[in-house]
Amino acid sequence: MKNNRFAGLVRPALHDLTPYHVPVHTGVVKLDANENPYDFPAGLLTEIFGRVDGQTLVRYPDAEARELREAIADYHGLTAENVFVGNGSDELILNLFLTFAVGGRVLIAEPTFGMYRIHSVIAGAEPVAVNRDPDFTIDSERLHYSTLNAAAQVMVLCSPNNPSGNTIPVGTVERILDWFGGIAVVDEAYFEFCGKTCVGLLERYPNLVVLRTFSKAFGLAGLRVGYMLAHPDVVQAVWRVKQPFNVDAFAQLAALAVLEHRSLFEPQIAALMKDGAVLYEQLRALPGVEAYPTEANFILFRTPHDARAVYERLLANGVLVRDLGGPGLERCLRVSIGKPEENHQFIKALGATLGSRL
Ligand SMILES: Cc1ncc(COP(=O)(O)O)c(C=O)c1O
Repeated sequence: MKNNRFAGLVRPALHDLTPYHVPVHTGVVKLDANENPYDFPAGLLTEIFGRVDGQTLVRYPDAEARELREAIADYHGLTAENVFVGNGSDELILNLFLTFAVGGRVLIAEPTFGMYRIHSVIAGAEPVAVNRDPDFTIDSERLHYSTLNAAAQVMVLCSPNNPSGNTIPVGTVERILDWFGGIAVVDEAYFEFCGKTCVGLLERYPNLVVLRTFSKAFGLAGLRVGYMLAHPDVVQAVWRVKQPFNVDAFAQLAALAVLEHRSLFEPQIAALMKDGAVLYEQLRALPGVEAYPTEANFILFRTPHDARAVYERLLANGVLVRDLGGPGLERCLRVSIGKPEENHQFIKALGATLGSRL
């Protein structure tokens, strides 16, 4: 912020925030963002474009995304009043904090997805980290103790956790919900890869919010559609901070079509998990590499070297991954599971990188 002439006007809480920056690299094997690497099913693409007519683009979208919310509700055995859709689940995370945590605190089980911390700061809430154990599991006792100290309005748990790949047992979430009175958000962005969910707890815990996205298994990262499942009172509360037309018309109809034809994605999901198991073993077989078991479409691994140096060398070899850092993630990188030939290129490049001087 130092050289910015408006620094004096910018909210102090934003001074230390680094603008979100995603480098664009073309012509590389892209294994950095946990997307579905397979082409979107061609027949479904044709069907989606077939549903676009002369009015789709000229009219404002349905502000309440009724059809999509009904379909999501049906999929989960809930009602549309339990569903809120957003411009990616990123928007929902921010909206939840804007609704419940401004001026308060957000408890975050770290290390985890970085946007929880960033959105907390944007919303004027204080992010409070509760460290996971070295194997990334959550110690619910310690979390309980931290919650008593922090008096947080919102808690965020990610399962499967990005970047570690492990899930939180539903029983652990249940125990947490037994004492936590604030809004407990369980981010299940990678649910389709593991099949483990807390949705069944919604009936008993009105303060539970489950987040899902169409960006990962369902191949719609480019369109930005996420949703939350929650008690109607939570949905109504979050509705107050909603942008009027937050999900565009094309995204609404595409997400609806994906849901109706979701079985088309099952072979892709199965292939990714099968290839991921192979990649995990290959990573473990590399001298000095520690890989973490995953229940999602990415793998966290640690090498003996500086993560940035490994990242740069992989990129020079045409493979883009995520380099990580911070408490619990020292010398760690995260690789998304790609198509078999992409995984092969990655493991070859990593082998060469680790065999060279860094
Ligand atoms: C755990 C988690 N939640 C949410 C998101 C954001 O997803 P969306 O594309 O729906 O905004 C991501 C994306 O990487 C993620 O890893």
